[in-house]
Amino acid sequence: MLKLLLLLMSLSMFSNQTYLHVHAEKFIAIMAQSKSHMLPMIAISKELEKLNHSITFAVASRMNTDLINDGFNISTIIAKSLDQFYFEDIIREMVETMMSGAKITALTEWLKGTNALCHGYLNDTAHVHELAAHQFDYAIVDYAPTLCYSVMAYKLNLPFISLGAFIDPSVNRVPFNPSYMPTLFSSFTDKMTFRERIINTVRYILLLLRPSVPSFETLSERYVPEKQRVSNEEIKQMSLIYIADNDMLLEFPHPVPSNVVMCGGLAAAPAIKLPDKLNDFVENSSDGIVVVSFGSIIKTLPSETLSKMIEAFNMVTNLNFVVATGKEVMNVKNVLMLPWIPQNDLLGHSKTKLFITHGGKSSVFEALHHGVPMIVFPIGVDQPANAAVITAKHYGITMDFYHFTIQDLVEIIRNIAFNDQFKSNIMRASTIFHSRPQTPSERAAYWINLVTKYGNEHFRHSSLDMPWYSFYLVDVLITFITIGFSSVMCLQWICCRAKRKHKQE
Ligand SMILES: *[C@@H]1O[C@H](CO)[C@@H](O)[C@H](O)[C@H]1NC(C)=O
Ligand SMILES: *[C@@H]1O[C@H](CO)[C@@H](O)[C@H](O)[C@H]1NC(C)=O
Ligand SMILES: *[C@@H]1O[C@H](CO)[C@@H](O)[C@H](O)[C@H]1NC(C)=O
Ligand SMILES: *[C@@H]1O[C@H](CO)[C@@H](O)[C@H](O)[C@H]1NC(C)=O
Repeated sequence: MLKLLLLLMSLSMFSNQTYLHVHAEKFIAIMAQSKSHMLPMIAISKELEKLNHSITFAVASRMNTDLINDGFNISTIIAKSLDQFYFEDIIREMVETMMSGAKITALTEWLKGTNALCHGYLNDTAHVHELAAHQFDYAIVDYAPTLCYSVMAYKLNLPFISLGAFIDPSVNRVPFNPSYMPTLFSSFTDKMTFRERIINTVRYILLLLRPSVPSFETLSERYVPEKQRVSNEEIKQMSLIYIADNDMLLEFPHPVPSNVVMCGGLAAAPAIKLPDKLNDFVENSSDGIVVVSFGSIIKTLPSETLSKMIEAFNMVTNLNFVVATGKEVMNVKNVLMLPWIPQNDLLGHSKTKLFITHGGKSSVFEALHHGVPMIVFPIGVDQPANAAVITAKHYGITMDFYHFTIQDLVEIIRNIAFNDQFKSNIMRASTIFHSRPQTPSERAAYWINLVTKYGNEHFRHSSLDMPWYSFYLVDVLITFITIGFSSVMCLQWICCRAKRKHKQE
């Protein structure tokens, strides 16, 4: 009787506790150290804070200084290893090598860099201990470009949410059909010729066979020896949910798996007023301005390319050009060159007619947010794919960074800046973008809050737990082929026997 009473008491205490429990979780965000990877996460963290959660960022001290200088107030933990293998340096080196034309060298440099980054980070024992001491509840990790952030979450026993700029079929078991879905980083559209479909299918198979960066080795075996050994694939599939910084308005429509939420445009924000001097230059233009920027990574363009562009800009006298060059301030006729420009605020200015860009994801989303048509000069990585979408949807025109002529550039600038078709296409997309009931970061925070409260069983599809040969029905196909082959053999044997009998008779 006493026992029963005690049980009842403890039960009621327990239910009381759960009733009083405030849903406030501690998150650690582990991202590649580049602004384009940090800013979407910062946007989400502001929304999560509104829901009573707290978010701490694992950062390199260089990134920490940059974020403070840019006025961001976030809580951080410094990881020394992230300074040693600084992601922005790795990308910059790769892009610079790519711009010089050495694509294969660029790729191997990139693989070497991310490999060193991954091993260096997971080997940072001081950092691991510091993270463990904070007793976080969840991690939010980058799912590109390396697996090491997810492995860190696994090591810390933290359930994790993944955030990335694209849906990778090999990660998410996306029901992928290469007949109309261009593979990752491909510049094909959703309408492919027979030849393109063959290439696309081969690329798709190669992507599936691609090992996890950094290498073929099982990372958990090396860095999480205290826990059960799991494959890299299994670690990827542990993710509670994938937040994709992507939108159908900037890709070709395709099915989305139930464990992926599209939240494209996380870092895009409303424009704020320009500094006075810049504002004067913008307001002074007769027919409007053109914003020219190649992103935060490509700080300086090859001087030959830049002078070709400036020559072209000087020929379009009725437009003013604001160009980010990474060099000192210079003013050549209608062209203002600045070391750095407030790109988003310029794109949001009513006088802006056109955006000349490398087509990086965050730039393209800013253009969509403000409804500005584009000329895209893709250099590498995901940029050719973004450029293909922009051209196909008539938001702008793609030009060849390596082989454009001054005359072509002049003509295309005039054609886009003074042709309402491009403007109305991107304005329509922009209106759709802004018409949704939640902003991208509100949507992401909603889903993260949901999975931390109720788990993900209600939408996690079982294909994530299948071995690859079951998912691709290889086992079924082999069975069919075997049955087919055996039946033919059997029939042949019966026929032969019948014939032989016939002859004997
Ligand atoms: C946040 O916490 C406060 C007090 O603990 C509570 O009143 C409020 O409703 C919470 N907000 C949300 C969105 O849960
Ligand atoms: C930064 O954020 C913390 C808590 O989120 C707050 O207490 C502090 O006042 C903020 N500092 C500034 C300078 O805004
Ligand atoms: C890991 O760190 C230790 C020192 O802390 C160092 O001796 C070792 O070489 C590192 N291993 C790798 C793979 O970086
Ligand atoms: C803008 O135009 C006015 C009048 O033409 C001129 O005085 C001023 O210097 C110009 N400002 C800039 C920033 O070009």
